[in-house]
Amino acid sequence: MTASRTNRGGDRGAGGGSGAGGGSVAWEVLLPAAGAPARARGRALQAALREAVRSGRLVPDTRLPSSRDLAADLGVSRGLVTEAYEQLTAEGYLRSGRGAGTWVGGAVRSARPPARDLAPRAPGAVADFVPGTPDLSLFPRAAWAAAQRGVLAELPHQELGYPDPRGLPRLRTALAELLSRRRGVVADPERLLVVSGVAQATTLLGFALHARGIGTVAVEDPGSPQHNDLYTAAGVRTVPLPLDDEGLAVGPLRASDTRAVVTTPAHQYPTGIAYSARRRAELLDWARSVDGFVLEDDYDGDFRYDRAPVGALQGLDPERVAYAGSVSKSLAPGLRLGWLLVPEALAEEVVERKRTMDLGHPTLDQALFARFVERGDYDRQLRRCQRAYRERRDALVAALAEHFPGSRVSGIAAGLHAIAVLPRRFAPEAGFLARVTAAGIAVRALADCTHARTGHEDVRLVLGYAHLPPARIREGVRLMAEAAEG
Ligand SMILES: Cc1ncc(COP(=O)(O)O)c(C=O)c1O
Repeated sequence: MTASRTNRGGDRGAGGGSGAGGGSVAWEVLLPAAGAPARARGRALQAALREAVRSGRLVPDTRLPSSRDLAADLGVSRGLVTEAYEQLTAEGYLRSGRGAGTWVGGAVRSARPPARDLAPRAPGAVADFVPGTPDLSLFPRAAWAAAQRGVLAELPHQELGYPDPRGLPRLRTALAELLSRRRGVVADPERLLVVSGVAQATTLLGFALHARGIGTVAVEDPGSPQHNDLYTAAGVRTVPLPLDDEGLAVGPLRASDTRAVVTTPAHQYPTGIAYSARRRAELLDWARSVDGFVLEDDYDGDFRYDRAPVGALQGLDPERVAYAGSVSKSLAPGLRLGWLLVPEALAEEVVERKRTMDLGHPTLDQALFARFVERGDYDRQLRRCQRAYRERRDALVAALAEHFPGSRVSGIAAGLHAIAVLPRRFAPEAGFLARVTAAGIAVRALADCTHARTGHEDVRLVLGYAHLPPARIREGVRLMAEAAEG
């Protein structure tokens, strides 16, 4: 259809590019008007055009076809189209540009408002210490683009079909090698699934536990609100259990009647405790004794600053531990890409759930990431982030010492966030939070991650630092101190 030459990209002038072919859909709505009896045809055409603009089918700044082209497409006289254009221009629905061309008026309020953005961010914060996000400016765009080009050039057509719901064999093989080398897991590619993040891994495990008659799962308290939300959504009730210095306390776990527990042993979220070797062994003993499972969320286990990362718990007993991780802290959460290693006993149910949920992860993304891992780009990215995040952690610790002397800072050996307990004089916490929030500083209180209402007075913060360059960290902490002093 000639009219599909319409330029929807804005005011780029006549002949300014061959616009989206989707524009032709709009002209089809004019066809019934074109078929109206001759006497009523002009008015019908105007009404249809007006309605197309009002309803948002023709968006502001869409360029209309020439009267000659549209008349030819609709099989009406050119005069009728010219008349319609003139009438609607007079009414403000259309406007004519300098020289040739007619556009949908920019000021027409469409019945279809633009989509709202509900992404979880702290827009406009003067300083944003909310944990959970890596530095998105470290995303390796050039290497990613090269991998994308390579994959598009080499991917066999058949790999654009539905994949194995567990993921492309090439990626599962590459991930098995990566995870056993870096995290010490026992990685059988047959029991490895490519998923859209730890979040989906958690949901799949929730369904699998439920199917085995396990209706409750113990979670760390303080812990990740995500665990609570995701297991609850999968129909599994969460039982918050306390921590001690070595990790989740096993006494309360033994006393509970649950047979599954979620842990973050490499760098407990949010306290930053690294589980002791003894606690790891105790957890596994407990799991064997109840014929249960440990669900290991290795959300930031790659980043350890004082020594080589401690191996994953899963490596000690792959039949009792399900292991999940993702690229959310190393590349970007928006990629929605992760992995799950499942014990034999849960494998069939988890794979079937993944299949019925989405028929598998997008294949282009998988092939791209496989190439990225195979060529060493992912290892390079991890090393780069590790260097940057260690420097930022040091900047945070130094800034807290300078501006909040007497603070106790912990959980700094690993990960992307730290815990700071501020000196007593900043208490009570509610007043502190109100002051810094009013100054435009975004922080998360440790209390937001716990079910236990201890009635504490101290200000206890979970401070994310990885996404901020050192200078912003120093400035942010200084501003926080200024706001806190009132
Ligand atoms: C402890 C913890 N685990 C898992 C997740 C979810 O991670 P993913 O992006 O891999 O789904 C988060 C995200 O906030 C988290 O804090």
